[in-house]
Amino acid sequence: MPESSENKSFFITTPIFYVNDAPHIGHAYTEVATDVLARWHRQSGDDTWFLTGTDEHGQKILRTATANGVAPKEWADRLVESAWRPLLNTINISNDDFIRTTDARHEEGVAKFLQKLYDDGHVYAGEFEALYCVGCEEFKPKSEIVDGTGAFEGEKVCAIHSKPLELLQEKNYFFKMSAFQDRLLALYEERPDFVQPASARNEVIAFVQQGLEDLSISRTSFDWGIPIPWDSSHVTYVWFDALLNYVTATGYGSNDEQFARRWPATHIVGKDILRFHAVIWPAMLMAAGLPVPEHVFAHGWLLVGGEKMSKSKLTGIAPNEITDTFGSDAFRYYFMRAISFGQDGSFSWEDLAARYQAELANGFGNLASRVLAMNAKYFGSVQPAAAEETAADQAIRELALKVTSAADTHIERFAIHEAIAEIWQLVDALNGYITEQEPWVLAKSEEQKPRLGTVLATATEGLRALAELLHPVVPEATAKLWAALGADEAIGALDEQPLRDAGTWGRLPAGTPQQPLAVLFPRIETDAESK
Ligand code: ME8
Ligand code: MG
Repeated sequence: MPESSENKSFFITTPIFYVNDAPHIGHAYTEVATDVLARWHRQSGDDTWFLTGTDEHGQKILRTATANGVAPKEWADRLVESAWRPLLNTINISNDDFIRTTDARHEEGVAKFLQKLYDDGHVYAGEFEALYCVGCEEFKPKSEIVDGTGAFEGEKVCAIHSKPLELLQEKNYFFKMSAFQDRLLALYEERPDFVQPASARNEVIAFVQQGLEDLSISRTSFDWGIPIPWDSSHVTYVWFDALLNYVTATGYGSNDEQFARRWPATHIVGKDILRFHAVIWPAMLMAAGLPVPEHVFAHGWLLVGGEKMSKSKLTGIAPNEITDTFGSDAFRYYFMRAISFGQDGSFSWEDLAARYQAELANGFGNLASRVLAMNAKYFGSVQPAAAEETAADQAIRELALKVTSAADTHIERFAIHEAIAEIWQLVDALNGYITEQEPWVLAKSEEQKPRLGTVLATATEGLRALAELLHPVVPEATAKLWAALGADEAIGALDEQPLRDAGTWGRLPAGTPQQPLAVLFPRIETDAESK
């Protein structure tokens, strides 16, 4: 679809990730989910912009770099080039931009934003002492401070990182966040879909109702950060810096036209960083007189042994451990299908291998290869013409319309797993339809040739619809299918098809020449299944 500012704007973001270490499948999970949503909207003609990137300042990165004997910027460069940018290829991410918090555009935008808040009286100097978690880069609220166990017996530790908190005492600048408590509560009330899912919304409301404190937004004990514009003995608190990436990347302070076109965004985040996005960030925007985000959606955690998979606990699985064997499409499909988006989930090699075989290879892949093989055999590799429609054909056509609109509704409410399950009804129905219609029996009599044409035309239209509907999830396999259908020449590129019309029949003309189908999901001959 042509992108123009007349189409509805859809700006979607991932968190920007800390470059203290290489990504694991938890980060890839957020990227894939955001990518599926971005591709769905882009293919539907919305004026889509997908932003991702890296968070490079602060104590956590500084300490990691120092421990590795290099300067923080050098460390960040190394990790970005060797690990974070390559991740996007590994899992086939279609981002439009990649921001680093060390980019000049970002540092300049942050300074402008801070200066504005300072000039408008939202910032004051104060004295502060509290327990800090370097893993979270946060002064922890009481609810997330717990007693340590094992090696940390007798100490206070972070509920997320299970590591000791550090007592920090500094002179800081503070953002008067407490002044926004009522406006935030009104926002959650007036826009019930601002924070999703409902469990996340409830958590945020309960947190703000307890009372908001002002936020320390500067540090003096180290200098790896963006200098406070009016006092260069302080650097900006890393979260204050990081959250601003969403506006500095889209022209805040530098390109008003672009900013007006893109902002506000839909933020996809893990539930570990919900509060930053649903409380601190909208308060910052309110203070600056800017619109708050469109939505903040917090997804669940990938768990290992019941705990959040984490870089700092070294429980991460590298994404290419999966894609090397199964491919990026299977990675994308598996995590989007097997885990309810918004809830925690566990990764399992057995479940991945089983779904690969049953759903991708036998379900979708086999359907495509059977139909195209029969078109080749009975119709000389062209799209067959349909004759009179029976109830069975009509049922398929109606199902295609229904799943298209239902899937779109599910995507609108971020239920990616339900959208895929919905589309899969069409995969299953088409497989059942072919079994029942027995085209190989019809092919035995010349008299039944029109009926054979109708059955295979119906099945081929079904494949065309599936290629469009599943393209955001499995872009490689659907591109192969699209090529085999001869659709590129007949009706244009797959990602330019109007997704919300995927269920409409008759788009691929009868007689369209078809090509041999590349194997969509090859048999996996490995010990991966027993890993
Ligand atoms: O928090 N399961 O960066 P980060 C699911 N720089 N998702 C997971 C995950 C898991 N086990 N582990 C990580 C930061 N993630 C800040 C963000 S944004 C302005 C600044 C994903 O490197 C998930 O999206 O710790 C989570 O919120 C994010 O990685 C945290 O990444
Ligand atoms: Mg983290």
